[in-house]
Order: sequence, then structure tokens, then C-alpha cells
Amino acid sequence: MRLIILGSTGLVGRYLLDLALANPDVSHIVAPVRRAIPAQEKLFAPVVDFDCLPDAPWWQADAIVCALGTTMRKAGSQQAFRRIDHDYPLLVARLGKQNGVNVFVLNSALGAKAQSLFFYNRVKGETERDLQALGFGSLTFVRPGLIGGMREERRPVERMLQILFGAIGPVLPSQYRINPAQKIAQAMLDAALAARPGVHAIASDLLV
Ligand SMILES: NC(=O)c1ccc[n+]([C@@H]2O[C@H](COP(=O)([O-])OP(=O)(O)OC[C@H]3O[C@@H](n4cnc5c(N)ncnc54)[C@H](OP(=O)(O)O)[C@@H]3O)[C@@H](O)[C@H]2O)c1
Repeated sequence: MRLIILGSTGLVGRYLLDLALANPDVSHIVAPVRRAIPAQEKLFAPVVDFDCLPDAPWWQADAIVCALGTTMRKAGSQQAFRRIDHDYPLLVARLGKQNGVNVFVLNSALGAKAQSLFFYNRVKGETERDLQALGFGSLTFVRPGLIGGMREERRPVERMLQILFGAIGPVLPSQYRINPAQKIAQAMLDAALAARPGVHAIASDLLV
């Protein structure tokens, strides 16, 4: 299969890329990035401007998996956060759809809900809602809670929560336990490969 990976330089995305590179069922990978990454066999990683994505032939693929996203702190404003976590996945999904892609997998979040009172959950929910409106044959939302894994950048609050949740994990309800980035990536790749017809959600308690 031809697979498009968004967010391939992130924590979940790097696992996704490694898993896809190692999977014999994935013959070609396109990973649009904003900063160049090392070349590898079966990988094409065009450097693009996400505010002005090209309509190129490489959008023709069997599936798109999207682990692109940011944090409120990095984005700097609600508007900038929404642009990255909502608008970019939608732009990519529309380009894919125009080029025949029928399978889309999104790394969403626990609590995603378009009517949520919380801005983060609302943006994730609106992204899910607007992706559904595009009519993919197979659409999967993977909804992790706190993502576990080592980051290059410092995220002190997340790190503190990881230590806390790691310590009390066994007594927490399974939906609130840490979701390792590799598990999330595997669930995303599996969903892309399975291409089950319809709309599906993979809850955080299945990602522990
Ligand atoms: N952190 C959590 O505990 C948590 C919990 C639930 C859900 N999530 C969601 O899970 C998703 C993936 O999380 P993650 O931790 O793997 O993310 P991450 O490590 O922060 O990686 C984010 C990816 O998105 C790309 N990206 C960010 N801003 C961009 C921009 N302006 N233009 C182009 N690319 C951009 C990054 O590219 P660069 O490498 O170039 O920056 C990177 O590839 C996100 O949508 C996040 O909201 C996170």
C-alpha cells in the first residue's frame, strides 16, 4: 500500500514512520514535513509549507495517517492552535480525498467532543466532525489520554504527569493510564492497513 504520514517528526509520528518502514505491506511512504529528514528506502519526504500545501501527484495514496498537532503553549494562541490541530488535518484530508484516498486515520484525543466546554477537546471534536463530513470510506479516530515516551523538547507538566500517572497507574481506571506512543502508532498503522469500512474510534483504554 501507499501510505501518507503527517507529523512523522513527532513522538507518535516517528514510531509510525519506523513501523511503516519495517512493514512489508507498505510499499511507498510519503511524509510531508516542514524540515528535512534523512532519506530512506521507500520514503519520500517533501518539505512543504503547511499554509500553502501543493496539489501534487504524491497525494495519490491508499491511506493517510495523521499524527500532526501541537500544544497550546507552543502554538501561542487558540487561533494558532486551531490552525494546526484542526485546519491542517482538514486541508490534508481534502487534498487526499481529491486524489482518491479513501482511508484516513487521525491521532485525536481522549474527550474529543465538538460541544465540549474545554477548548482543546472542542477543537479535537470539531476536527473529527469535519473529517466525517468528507465521506472517507474508512475513518478512524485514535483517542489517547496522556501520551508516554521520551521527547527531545522539554514539557515539564507532561513529564510530571507521566511520572505521577506512571506511579499510580495500576490503581487508575484503564482509560486514564499512560498510552505509550508506540502503541498509538501501531493502532494507527493497523487501522490504515485494515481499512475497515465506516467510522471507528479507538479509546485510550485499548492503548495501554
Ligand atoms: N501530548 C499528549 O499527551 C497528547 C494526548 C492526547 C492527544 N495528543 C495529540 O496527539 C497528536 C500527536 O502528539 P505527539 O505528542 O506525537 O506530537 P508532537 O511530538 O508534538 O509532534 C507533532 C508533529 O506535528 C508537527 N507540527 C506541529 N506544528 C506544526 C506546524 N505548524 N506545521 C507543520 N507541522 C507541525 C511536528 O513537526 P515538527 O517536528 O516540525 O515540529 C511533529 O511532526 C497531537 O495532535 C496531540 O494533540 C497529545
